[in-house]
Amino acid sequence: MRTTRRFALRVNGADHLVEGEPQTPLLFFLRNDLSLNGPKFGCGLGECGACTVLIDGIAARACALPVRLAEAREIVTLEGLGSSEGPDPVQQAFIDAQAAQCGYCINGMIMTAKAFLAVNPAPSEAQVREALRYNLCRCGTHVEIVKAVLLAAERGQAGEAAAP
Ligand code: FES
Ligand code: FES
Repeated sequence: MRTTRRFALRVNGADHLVEGEPQTPLLFFLRNDLSLNGPKFGCGLGECGACTVLIDGIAARACALPVRLAEAREIVTLEGLGSSEGPDPVQQAFIDAQAAQCGYCINGMIMTAKAFLAVNPAPSEAQVREALRYNLCRCGTHVEIVKAVLLAAERGQAGEAAAP
């Protein structure tokens, strides 16, 4: 028997009530109920990283996280980082480094980089590569992606986005 119930989610600083089954992945609620399409559905198996969000500041794969485990946590999606008018410094670095081709993996790259730079603000290239090791890019723009993360670190990812 299927049991649905309501879940209180705090996403990008706002409270939401969604209804569904406890095991349904958080990603479905973010995309279908809250229209937050930054996180992408890629593999659906926790393997590609396209669906990455921050949960209490830690990068997590929303396709593999049951909604019940996301209750009472601080969830941040790509939309919560910045906007086209005021991008987050990491987003700006990805733009400036032209790190996207199709763009499908970029949500995961940025969210993973964001969590990584918060704990390691001045990483080496090898550390960036290691941090993004489990985020897959089918287009093969890994070189630009690594450059973008290093650029964000150089600028100070928590600071102001540098002017082009
Ligand atoms: S869609 Fe979540 S890891 Fe691939
Ligand atoms: S830019 Fe296309 S999958 Fe990474």
